[in-house]
Amino acid sequence: MKKLRIGIIGCGRISVMHAVPATVLEESMLVACCDIVAERAEELAAKYGAKAYTSYEKMIGECSLDAVHICLPHYLHTVVAQYAIMHGVNVLSEKPMSVDYESAAKTVALAEEKKVLYGVIFQCRYNNSAQLVKKAAVAGKLGKIISARSTLTWKRDDEYYGESDWKGTWDKEGGGVVIDQAIHSIDLVNWIVNSEVEKVSCSMANRGHQCVKVEDSAEGLITYKNGTRYGFYCMNNYGCDEPIEIRLFCEKAKVVFGYDDAYIYYNDGTTEEAHQDECKEVYEGGKDYWGFQHIRQIRQFYRACLGLEELEISGKEALKTHKLICDIYKIGKESMGL
Ligand SMILES: NC(=O)c1ccc[n+]([C@@H]2O[C@H](COP(=O)([O-])OP(=O)(O)OC[C@H]3O[C@@H](n4cnc5c(N)ncnc54)[C@H](O)[C@@H]3O)[C@@H](O)[C@H]2O)c1
Repeated sequence: MKKLRIGIIGCGRISVMHAVPATVLEESMLVACCDIVAERAEELAAKYGAKAYTSYEKMIGECSLDAVHICLPHYLHTVVAQYAIMHGVNVLSEKPMSVDYESAAKTVALAEEKKVLYGVIFQCRYNNSAQLVKKAAVAGKLGKIISARSTLTWKRDDEYYGESDWKGTWDKEGGGVVIDQAIHSIDLVNWIVNSEVEKVSCSMANRGHQCVKVEDSAEGLITYKNGTRYGFYCMNNYGCDEPIEIRLFCEKAKVVFGYDDAYIYYNDGTTEEAHQDECKEVYEGGKDYWGFQHIRQIRQFYRACLGLEELEISGKEALKTHKLICDIYKIGKESMGL
């Protein structure tokens, strides 16, 4: 099988979750890594046998890459994605697509025009728990989803924000707890409900952080055209990262799930459950709260690049959740007086 030639742009904390799959999967080989901080690019490149660059333009110009993984601060995602797409290189971008809606939509259109694949990481969709619930919903086993709710209470204190020059800023990160942490649980509900959003009502606040101005708390109600009402609550002022929890109250079942486990209690008395498998050893250096499903999504993206499968989480698909996130910010920022 032809091996895809892969480059990674951004060699910070998440890059290991991309470098390992690019190296170990049979579909790919990691050819180059790029970071404006030379030591970071050199360290990742040396560890995984790739060439280090400090300019992504130079890397794309020299390496005949089939795909790049974008692991950059949020405000750079679409700038770099568009550059790669213009040069005929497939793109797999970390979430979120962008810090605004327009640039994300423009990138989707550009990828379609240039016939280049543009994927967006939402690795939690590949958790066994989420897969079980999605499949039950698609098969009609849940009936109508009447209500959904999600909660996230995590810890991202001033020390966490102090370690980054872009996290916790409106311009470079695009927000706080919603765009960075709760985006995954909001995406899971949005994907499973699978209907157009009719109305977003929400409020946001910074209740406990001194060193950043972005929201650290948000709650709201999303009403879908199919009638589902989804309430979400998230905050990163908690003392630890508690497991996220999503509940669905459906016509034919009640569902409780998170990243690790899912339980479906059908009205007829039967149950179904799913649990995460362990694959932590592949990801030495990764964080538990990232989950361990990057490799599944990355392999799916590679197989799509090779023409073996349809791309599952395309930019067009991810744009549905991105639009919702942007709408949450539009209303949430007004509630903060911004
Ligand atoms: N999917 C997940 O669960 C998950 C988890 C963590 C982070 N992420 C995402 O991964 C992305 C990166 O996050 P991180 O925590 O690794 O951030 P980070 O700050 O640790 O890493 C970003 C890197 O990009 C580099 N960089 C900045 N500008 C550059 C440029 N012009 N060219 C090349 N390199 C440049 C920085 O020097 C830094 O090393 C973000 O989008 C974040 O939301 C996703």
